[in-house]
Amino acid sequence: MLAAVITAFGGPDVFALTEIPEPAGDVVDVTLAGVNYADVHRRRGEYEKPPLPAVLGADVVGRRRSDGRRVAALLRGGGGYAQVAPAQHVVEVPGDVSDEQALAVLEQGLTAWHSLHTLGRVTADDVVVVTAGAGGVGHLAVQLARAAGARVIALASSPAKRALAAQLGAHATVDSRHPDLGAALDETPTLVLDSVGGRTFEQLHAALAPFGRIVAYGGASEVANTVAVDDLMTASTGVLGFWLQRVLDDPELYRISAARLFHLAGRGVLTARIGGRHPLSAVGRAHADLESRVTSGKLVIDVHRLA
Ligand SMILES: NC(=O)c1ccc[n+]([C@@H]2O[C@H](COP(=O)([O-])OP(=O)(O)OC[C@H]3O[C@@H](n4cnc5c(N)ncnc54)[C@H](OP(=O)(O)O)[C@@H]3O)[C@@H](O)[C@H]2O)c1
Repeated sequence: MLAAVITAFGGPDVFALTEIPEPAGDVVDVTLAGVNYADVHRRRGEYEKPPLPAVLGADVVGRRRSDGRRVAALLRGGGGYAQVAPAQHVVEVPGDVSDEQALAVLEQGLTAWHSLHTLGRVTADDVVVVTAGAGGVGHLAVQLARAAGARVIALASSPAKRALAAQLGAHATVDSRHPDLGAALDETPTLVLDSVGGRTFEQLHAALAPFGRIVAYGGASEVANTVAVDDLMTASTGVLGFWLQRVLDDPELYRISAARLFHLAGRGVLTARIGGRHPLSAVGRAHADLESRVTSGKLVIDVHRLA
């Protein structure tokens, strides 16, 4: 089978289209593979450093070879940028959900859902700020927060991305590169979903209303934050963290929440935007686009298109 293999950590040019043996055991014949920001961190060698050579890629959709069913799979050890992937954390895709939608709402939708609902406990009284509000997770979080009846403020770095977030339901948008994010918000937030960290986390945490909470689920800025518990007491705010692995550790929770997201996608309540569809030979291009902040929605790799 063909795969986009890395033999060194580094920039987006480290991928090489290579013929390698199929994974052993239960497998998925992949149709589409997803690109996630965590893959950028892994490619640079910043996160979960996989042994080299490695095939990155954490989500796929295709047919499970053992029974021919259409499934999506989340691959915690990588292996997604390939024509055949391990059948890991497999969920069946309903007939009314396309391959693209299934891929886009699984990893990123689970992250948006559990950050917003399970940890954030969103209600219709909340003012919710979503960082990277046009991104893979963020554009789904905007729709889910709006569906929960909350007021939604989306951050994004370009007019086109802010227009997309507004079209998806954000009541207001703010330039994510604004030097004082707290001052740029038109209302005091009660719930923040943060995938950026660094000064974005600091400024949005400081802007929270008393009894507000911030859910941290990513660190695109690569700047780590620390929080003083004494300050939390004074401000009466909460800091929560989310990692998808904790959902996958609980097969029933994973099954139920994946089914919920597919249900919402099937009914059109949640509509993922496909921000780019690339051939397997162009995984590096997708990475370059993602890290230069020009993309919106979900990036997908068509593993059977080679150029
Ligand atoms: N905790 C978990 O289990 C989990 C699971 C899935 C994803 N995540 C995290 O969720 C976040 C979103 O993932 P995604 O795949 O959907 O990516 P994405 O949101 O489509 O892309 C990342 C976005 O982050 C924003 N950003 C802000 N500062 C940045 C910087 N210094 N460098 C690059 N981007 C920056 C950019 O939006 P603007 O330019 O519009 O600001 C960029 O488009 C990532 O941090 C990822 O690691 C976490």
